[in-house]
Amino acid sequence: MVSKYLHQRGYWAVEKAIEIHNLTKRYKDVCAVENLNLSIENGEIFGFLGPNGAGKTTTIRALTGLAKPTSGSVSVCGFNVASEPEKVKRVIGVVQQHFTFDLDLNLRENMELHARLHHIPKNIRRQRIDELLEFVSLTKQSERLVEDLSGGMKKAAMIARALLHQPKIIFLDEPTVGLDVQIRRRMWDLIRKLSRSGTTIFLTTHYIEEAEALCSRVGIVNQGHLIALGSPSELRGQVGLATVEMLVGGEYTRYEHFVDRQEALAYMQCLPSDVKAVVRDSSLEDVFVKLTGKKVEADGDA
Ligand SMILES: Nc1ncnc2c1ncn2[C@@H]1O[C@H](COP(=O)(O)OP(=O)(O)OP(=O)(O)O)[C@@H](O)[C@H]1O
Ligand SMILES: [Mg+2]
Repeated sequence: MVSKYLHQRGYWAVEKAIEIHNLTKRYKDVCAVENLNLSIENGEIFGFLGPNGAGKTTTIRALTGLAKPTSGSVSVCGFNVASEPEKVKRVIGVVQQHFTFDLDLNLRENMELHARLHHIPKNIRRQRIDELLEFVSLTKQSERLVEDLSGGMKKAAMIARALLHQPKIIFLDEPTVGLDVQIRRRMWDLIRKLSRSGTTIFLTTHYIEEAEALCSRVGIVNQGHLIALGSPSELRGQVGLATVEMLVGGEYTRYEHFVDRQEALAYMQCLPSDVKAVVRDSSLEDVFVKLTGKKVEADGDA
């Protein structure tokens, strides 16, 4: 009753961008995602960080209606993904992990096709396509066959296409995998620009530095489980902000974490003289290793 009154008076709390309740997705004998609970605020750049096979794509597929949860529920902008799929489609844009363009068409034709599928009126279609190609710096490539674009251009083109219907939330599944370092940084700038324009961003990555550089909050996922959640600095604080890296016997590396550099330096003073040691800021990789005992990229690149 109270909530109805508040709603009528316009005092209703703003919906979360994404809400995930007890999401589980099983494929026969594989549990890809188990009992995931998570909510994402409007305007966040949220990073889902984890190794190959952790369940990142499966989570995106459940959030975008491409995969039916085994149990649990997900909603986007207040719309239930299972019961209101059409409303959900209107407010989300999806850039899948793998390339999904019509290779026989040029970039503009691909954009046109997608615009028609989303019923974007003809009179505004061309202008919006031009604006988005400009936004991702692909104006000059608009008449080129997408097959002939570089890997970085293809990813940028997929982002432009996903933005055609002006979604509130965009899902980016491994937006920079396979891109060289310079192009990756340009992609980060593009993602930040998108965030400044008010779009909520949910991205997956297995690059630690990407999560640290871009995300306001990070969820670390491993074998279908969310094992840590927080801002990059909160997560680093969980292991200790300073790490001492030691080369022991010239063979293996040992890590010790400390609340701050002062404590780390005090520890280093007590080490035997044959142990080579450096102190550095702790990273999200340290968080992951401490929680799981292995590296994020241990299973190889995607
Ligand atoms: N359609 C499917 N059928 C059977 N098993 C699947 C299917 N999709 C995913 N899986 C399994 O679910 C688990 C999670 O896969 P998912 O693709 O979500 O991982 P990911 O974190 O996106 O990995 P990557 O970093 O390699 O993209 C894996 O063990 C995978 O083999
Ligand atoms: Mg994936």
